[in-house]
Amino acid sequence: MKTIKLGIIGGGLMGREVASALGRWFALDEYPVQVELVAVCDLKEELLDWFRKVPTVRQRTRDHTELLANAEVDVVYVAVPHDLHERIYLDVLRAGKDLLAEKPFGIDLRAAEAIRDEAARLGRFVRCSSEFPFLPGPQRVVEAVRSGKLGDLLGIRAGFLHSSDIDPRKPINWKRQVKSCGETGVMADLGIHVTHVPFRLGWKPESVFAQLVNIVRERPDGNGGVAACDTWDNAILHTAVRPGDQPVPMTLETKRIAPGETNTWYIEVAGMEGAVRYSTKEPKTLWTFRRDGEQWWQKTDLGFQTPFRTISGGIFEPGFPDAIMQMLAAFVAEREGFLGGRFGCVTPDEAVASQALFAAALESHRTGGVVTLAGR
Ligand SMILES: NC(=O)c1ccc[n+]([C@@H]2O[C@H](COP(=O)([O-])OP(=O)(O)OC[C@H]3O[C@@H](n4cnc5c(N)ncnc54)[C@H](O)[C@@H]3O)[C@@H](O)[C@H]2O)c1
Repeated sequence: MKTIKLGIIGGGLMGREVASALGRWFALDEYPVQVELVAVCDLKEELLDWFRKVPTVRQRTRDHTELLANAEVDVVYVAVPHDLHERIYLDVLRAGKDLLAEKPFGIDLRAAEAIRDEAARLGRFVRCSSEFPFLPGPQRVVEAVRSGKLGDLLGIRAGFLHSSDIDPRKPINWKRQVKSCGETGVMADLGIHVTHVPFRLGWKPESVFAQLVNIVRERPDGNGGVAACDTWDNAILHTAVRPGDQPVPMTLETKRIAPGETNTWYIEVAGMEGAVRYSTKEPKTLWTFRRDGEQWWQKTDLGFQTPFRTISGGIFEPGFPDAIMQMLAAFVAEREGFLGGRFGCVTPDEAVASQALFAAALESHRTGGVVTLAGR
């Protein structure tokens, strides 16, 4: 069986999540490629120590150029703060490695374009992380839309909500500062999770009107002082898409302060003939709407119908680590040419289109008006 050797740059929250998914790769049933985590780079010694638990890791370094000089490494997953994306992603590509990038794919639109263009110039395989669409519920939403059975579309709503920032006494970190998160704030943090499915279904906004909120403007700096918390907490984008000959409203919400939510990813698509909705708040549940004499919202219990089959029983329920594993399986399958008709990871063009939308949202907020995206 072919084995791909993977390196991780950034062994924090997401780096370890990816390591954990690779650690149970054998759970994928009849999957034709092996993936081995062989090298890790982080600045923190305690995180490099953590990776001692992973027996296949042969290189631990604080210098990402050392990892990139490792001839054994074929593919690199990078999960570092956003201000480092462009430099490290370009270093990965120029070292001749393929890249699974993290969102938002550069700190801003210009950086995203530079990464996409360099990947194209060098012919490297690059995708961007967004795992929720690989859960069975979102897959069923995609299937329902593609079946055409929803009829003429009335509206689309998608969002990603959490409340990690609801406590104003929570100390600042890099995700809450423009210099390291990006001017688009919560959109940089959560936006690509929300655009992935709509963009893949062909719904690219023609225009956007944005409502951006920054409620918590200062936070403890962790050293007894206070620091400016200058990123957007919440963003609601009212967009128009054109699946047919008429514009259709599509609302995209990203919130870091949404009372009662922990990690809620949702999508709802309504048409004249039917509707469908899914939220990770009810992770097993798919809602479908139909009408005859009456109107019905029908609830279906989903099992483990993931895009790539695993040894888990069909009635068991998947969660976040399974979504990460399925996303990695899709990345490898696409790189190796056996994705087939399955859903794929975010492409560089989709990441750039997302950043263009977020940049237009900033402009909309600044001007207080609707911003047209045609040609962007
Ligand atoms: N897909 C998802 O669901 C998801 C969730 C959270 C974060 N993210 C994304 O993942 C990325 C990282 O976020 P995180 O939550 O893991 O952050 P984190 O702060 O937990 O981890 C980032 C790690 O990068 C390391 N680092 C910083 N500079 C480095 C350098 N020069 N070389 C090597 N390592 C360096 C830090 O020491 C830290 O351990 C971001 O792009 C973020 O948007 C994605």
